[in-house]
Amino acid sequence: MKVQLGVNIDHVASLRQARYRDQKLESLRGYGEPDPVRAAHEAEMGGAEIITVHLREDRRHICDLDLKRLAPMVQAKMNLEMGATDEMVGIARSHGAEMVTLVPEGRNEVTTEGGLDVAGQLARMKSVIARLKEGRPAPGVVVSAFIDADAKQVEAAKSAGFDACELHTGPYAHAFANVGGDMLCPTLRGEIQKLIDAGHAVRALGMRLNAGHGLNYFNVQPIARLAGMSELHIGHSIVSRSVYTGLREAVREMKRLIEGA
Ligand code: PXP
Repeated sequence: MKVQLGVNIDHVASLRQARYRDQKLESLRGYGEPDPVRAAHEAEMGGAEIITVHLREDRRHICDLDLKRLAPMVQAKMNLEMGATDEMVGIARSHGAEMVTLVPEGRNEVTTEGGLDVAGQLARMKSVIARLKEGRPAPGVVVSAFIDADAKQVEAAKSAGFDACELHTGPYAHAFANVGGDMLCPTLRGEIQKLIDAGHAVRALGMRLNAGHGLNYFNVQPIARLAGMSELHIGHSIVSRSVYTGLREAVREMKRLIEGA
């Protein structure tokens, strides 16, 4: 199965907001730079199959206008990352999002830090998923849970009605960096094993298996090789590399690594 690449363009918007936070985007020529809409286009030209944006409660990077402009422009699948709030459910529905990834949202975190606690809020998750899917016949919307590689969370995701689980690869990425990618090191092997086990459970329960967070040009291949992997969601490393190579080439290089795995 071909592993698809989802490129998260939030960091492009973060850079724009560093300069233009207090200005109305509509009043800026070209909507301010760097423009995440142009970034989405470049990522698609580099081969991204999915464009991901995280609309946060405080709109600290991606803004409502970005979403409005992206929706008709993006030909790849659009994945809207969001907290499980009533406001976000309304926005996802009004944009007809084809994929939604529910993430925990801490106000002070720079980026998403831990997986969503689906097991601890099962009733809320069921109701959010039902509202996202209501009145949307097949293929409708794919709803994914960003969770830690933990059997309890995988089972909860299934009973809540999620279609997919995105396993949090942050702990693996940390372990990888700490031991310089030494695959014989027990801590790194332990993190990979947790992802293998959770991935197996996700697939055995009939959900799609995705993964992301902290993946980069050095550590992506062992994750791309996991059995049944559908999508990898990557932001920071690709946008960082684009400073040197341009986004199109940065995406192409990540695709080459994933395909070569
Ligand atoms: N997946 C999810 C659910 C995320 O929230 C993020 C961004 O924090 C990513 C993947 C991409 O992570 P990174 O920027 O570390 O590649």
